[in-house]
Amino acid sequence: MSTTPLPPLPPIDPVKRYNLKSPVSWGIRDPERFRQLMDEAASLVVGGYYLGDNLFTWTRNLSLLEDDAFRHAWQANLLGPADEAIAWRRYVLCTAACHAVHLEGDFVECGTLGGTGVKTVIDYFGREKFAKTFWAYDTFDSNPTEVPQFPGQEAGLFERVQARFAGYGQVNLVKGLLPASLESRSPGRIAYLHIDLNDAAYEIAVLDVLFERMVPGGLLILDDYEWAGGYRGQKMAEDPWFSARNYRVMPLPTGQGLVIKR
Ligand SMILES: C[S@@+](CC[C@H](N)C(=O)[O-])C[C@H]1O[C@@H](n2cnc3c(N)ncnc32)[C@H](O)[C@@H]1O
Repeated sequence: MSTTPLPPLPPIDPVKRYNLKSPVSWGIRDPERFRQLMDEAASLVVGGYYLGDNLFTWTRNLSLLEDDAFRHAWQANLLGPADEAIAWRRYVLCTAACHAVHLEGDFVECGTLGGTGVKTVIDYFGREKFAKTFWAYDTFDSNPTEVPQFPGQEAGLFERVQARFAGYGQVNLVKGLLPASLESRSPGRIAYLHIDLNDAAYEIAVLDVLFERMVPGGLLILDDYEWAGGYRGQKMAEDPWFSARNYRVMPLPTGQGLVIKR
């Protein structure tokens, strides 16, 4: 069982309103017109708004920005503007981790790319205080799916990610094609599983292997479950997969999906 302490939350300022505005969202036909309209919309609300990553919401606490430990971990790990936009998704991972660190079992991420999702979670707790083993799977240097290569996804990425995790003895980076790469190196018990492969068939293939290894109370986060358009295939594959096991995915406004293992 883990002895990882949760990062302390600072005292709550009763009147403070936090805002986050990022220019990064997807699926916009006229970006300039959209930006003008959203700037105006943001100016018309009383505050506490989050604008970015295809979200616009206001009069929210924005707990993610009030949580100093998260703000520092998130900002220290930004590799580009998209990482800034998806802060709320990262906070979902960090708060899921706050639950999962108290369970038996390891942490797993399928689809790691540059490692920002893994590193933000560990840094949130304070690197050396994070007492769980974290397994991170990817082909790294090239993307095996139909999604285009991500920025920086080229020969040498794996070595750069290894260097990024120097000093993080809890992290096992496993390079190779999923699900085959699970055969040689993977944990038997899982408390936290983040699947972010952007591909329905591969996501189902890792669920087939890993879901039954999740401990009761373990948290599964599906990064793209609630995204429509090009990612809708994931929901189409995952809904029947979970229904067959008497589970239902909880869709989150961030576009993620959450499942609590029984
Ligand atoms: C959206 S990126 C992951 C982003 C990462 N989770 C983060 O938080 O920054 C998706 C990754 O999944 C990887 N991937 C997709 N299918 C895979 C498979 N079958 N085996 C290994 N990696 C795969 C791609 O190479 C890509 O790096």
